[in-house]
Amino acid sequence: MNHADMIQHARQVLSDNDRGTYTVPTHGLYPFQWNWDSALSALGFAHYDEPRAWSEIETLMAHQWEDGMVPHIIFHQPDDGYFPGPEVWGTGREVPTTGITQPPVSGFAVRRIYDRARDKDLAEAKARALLPKIHAWHEWFYRDRDPEGTGLIALLHPWESGRDNSVDWDDAFERVPTEGVGPFTRRDTTHANPAHRPTDEQYKRYIWLVKKFRSLGWDNSKLHAASPFKIVDPGFNAILIRSCEDVADLAARLGMDEIATASRAMVDKGVAAMETLWSAEMSQYLCYDRCKGELVQSPSIGGILAAFAPIPKARAAALVRRIETLAGSCNYLIPSHDPTHPEFDGLRYWRGPVWLIVNYMVADGFARAGETEIIPRIINDCLRLIETSGFAEYHDPITAEPCGGPHFTWTAAMVIEILNTYELAA
Ligand code: DGY
Repeated sequence: MNHADMIQHARQVLSDNDRGTYTVPTHGLYPFQWNWDSALSALGFAHYDEPRAWSEIETLMAHQWEDGMVPHIIFHQPDDGYFPGPEVWGTGREVPTTGITQPPVSGFAVRRIYDRARDKDLAEAKARALLPKIHAWHEWFYRDRDPEGTGLIALLHPWESGRDNSVDWDDAFERVPTEGVGPFTRRDTTHANPAHRPTDEQYKRYIWLVKKFRSLGWDNSKLHAASPFKIVDPGFNAILIRSCEDVADLAARLGMDEIATASRAMVDKGVAAMETLWSAEMSQYLCYDRCKGELVQSPSIGGILAAFAPIPKARAAALVRRIETLAGSCNYLIPSHDPTHPEFDGLRYWRGPVWLIVNYMVADGFARAGETEIIPRIINDCLRLIETSGFAEYHDPITAEPCGGPHFTWTAAMVIEILNTYELAA
């Protein structure tokens, strides 16, 4: 497939998954609006339909909670093909939403779309309206998910990370009970190969946590203290820091000084705190289990995704070396878990497969850090995967097997974004 055909195909995927003011990640498996899917998908629209790119993010932010939290799913329309639906979450919102959040890529997306905008007036109007909301979300994170002011926020549910079944959560998940969950019927395994999805045991724990938080009335000021699952994820924190930085820069340019100053302070504190997650032995960042008070010795993509934040140059260089090592044990970068480790599973969601959005964010971080040599390898691997196996949700890093849902919105958006961002041989 030449690049023009690839873009054409990708636009078709976006259009098929477009519901007017938001996109679904893919038909069937994910029939609603997902938070970080939407913001990253907006980057794809921005190359040919700027108003539609803005409306994607506006729709998401229109469902922000009063405390600043932006939910991970917005259930715009009923659909019984998904579990757990609104009746399980019971958040009591007029348009139902879940009660947990997802990686806050919106600040990054808004700045990127603004910087490239052809319609500057539209971009300024949209950015001016969106920045205060995104900033309120960032403030919510540091208030309710970092109550002791460490500079790093904790996730209370694996679904918040976006990396639902990462090996990173295995030990902490042992602490999450399953008693009282009751019977339920999963729907995801009717849309996707069960071997590509989380296990039933993991699902029981996902649901236990939802019920626990629901029993607390979804009061975010109580959840951090009450949760038996509290993980500081370097990838998630890096996304938050990067979004704060992008909000700081853009707000300064637009004369929104209070937001700029407050965001810059969050960045400085966050970057300094990230150092506590560095593992010299593994040459990457690690998760920290806030309940146990220990780093989680799990070499996953979360610690590499940290490259997306303005981390020190020496750390970025070490992450490049880490990826070069991983390249020795797979055919397509970047595996979501180290293939030489026993927990690696090339098909199972976040326990091994490659995700284009992650490759894109890591490459972007390296570009920012001046670590440019490795970028063509990371980006070309994305395109080789698409050529070989299509616009799947994720791919096996050894065989390129397409996994999860097909015809996937953010995969397509990343192809459009990548082909318009990087100079690549046709
Ligand atoms: C799912 O249903 O698999 C989602 O990842 C939860 O957000």
